[in-house]
Amino acid sequence: MLLILDTADINAIKHISEYYPVDGVTTNPSIIAKENTDFWSLLKEIRKIIGEDKMLHAQTTQTVSDKIVEEAILMKKELKGSFFVKIPISEEGLKATMELKKLGVGVTMTAIFTPAQALIAAKAGADFVAPYVNRLDNILGDGTEVVAQIVKLFKLHSLNSKVLAASFQNAEQVHKCAMYGCDAVTISADIPKTLISHPMTDNAIAGFNRDWKNAYGDKTILDF
Ligand code: G3P
Repeated sequence: MLLILDTADINAIKHISEYYPVDGVTTNPSIIAKENTDFWSLLKEIRKIIGEDKMLHAQTTQTVSDKIVEEAILMKKELKGSFFVKIPISEEGLKATMELKKLGVGVTMTAIFTPAQALIAAKAGADFVAPYVNRLDNILGDGTEVVAQIVKLFKLHSLNSKVLAASFQNAEQVHKCAMYGCDAVTISADIPKTLISHPMTDNAIAGFNRDWKNAYGDKTILDF
């Protein structure tokens, strides 16, 4: 399963991509606006940090297919490497997706809330579809169940699109998506730590350190 970071916070991207097995970065207009800085400098800085082999997903701000295509081509040219334009699902978005696939531009169809939307996006040729797990949970939907149904639909109909689950509030939602065979998750900067933390782990490490120190004091393996 691909692990992608859903943030444009440069410090967080630097830290997390150094310490965790991260496969790329996703952004959207809200995430970019939070940084309140120049779009191109920010996105190019992210590309510099993650390198050209890792995926960078950036969202179009256009709503008409011709303009979406134009913006996608410009972003691919400027941001280089493994690039996917994020397009919210709509008729114009689907038209743009079909055109961009002919032009060889990667597409992530986003703002997906139902398996039916995901199916049509996949048929249009989207490389990834991004269902919003936590936003569904927030309205008493079942976000991870929607992800499970999309995964099943794509297998059933031999569709090549990958499921990139987005919008997470906690580790349990991420874990369920992984259990359902989701291809990728994109998580905010506070989630990675929650995925690896456990009080029993802290306890075990404290025990190892205590026993070693009792026997050898400050001496480490390097000092033997
Ligand atoms: O990429 C879409 C995702 O960022 C939405 O997440 O946390 O705003 O619901 P959230």
